Amino acid sequence: MNRRILIAGNWKMNTTRNEALQLITAIQQAPVPDGVDVVIFPPFVWLEAVGRSLRDQVQLGAQDCSAEARGAFTGQVSAEQIRELCDWVIVGHSERRRDGSESNELVGRKAAAAIAAGLTPIACVGESIETRESGRAEAFVGSQIDAILEAAGPDTTDLVIAYEPIWAIGTGVSATADDAQAMCAFIRGRLGRRGENVSVLYGGSVVPENASAYLAQNDVDGLLVGGASLKADQFLAIVGAC
Ligand code: PGA
Repeated sequence: MNRRILIAGNWKMNTTRNEALQLITAIQQAPVPDGVDVVIFPPFVWLEAVGRSLRDQVQLGAQDCSAEARGAFTGQVSAEQIRELCDWVIVGHSERRRDGSESNELVGRKAAAAIAAGLTPIACVGESIETRESGRAEAFVGSQIDAILEAAGPDTTDLVIAYEPIWAIGTGVSATADDAQAMCAFIRGRLGRRGENVSVLYGGSVVPENASAYLAQNDVDGLLVGGASLKADQFLAIVGAC
């Protein structure tokens, strides 16, 4: 088994330049536990500045990448361009899939573009409350996983999956640790042979108070944190729960 624990902080469209620099400084006040990867995802515009403030322990990623390699795609950023600044990228976050603007097929192509450029994608999956209540959550998440795997190729293990139920993101209503474990185990099964080596994260209203319950689950290899990653003390408490 070759799975590391990963704590990812997605700053979304938050922080001024100064706030970003203050936050990264504060986050680096505490040591990262051995065997844990801590990766911060600032807005694109601050990637370079935040990257310059990094010391050894905390890593950097981008919040999205284009599925295209280069060309006339105004406002998009290619995986190869991102690779010059950092090692990680989030693809398929539900805020980008919302309203169908990013299909499973497009998310798969983004994951493949990231891998081809040498980035490790954190590919997000997760169901709506309607899908969960109708008993179709596994079928829905399963097809999201299949699209990512098909695009990534049969042997790729250089990716991370984040299970983020849409109803838990930014709502303060987190999944129970049992529900997170059940879906992460389902995802690991769907990963087949790769499941041994691909980390599966939980995300959705993670706070210091619930972090250790998720991390105690067999199939939860880490956490994707939104709101609580914007407060250094909360984020450090979550890292400290590893
Ligand atoms: P949240 O966001 O922690 O604010 O719920 C999680 C995410 O969107 O990755």
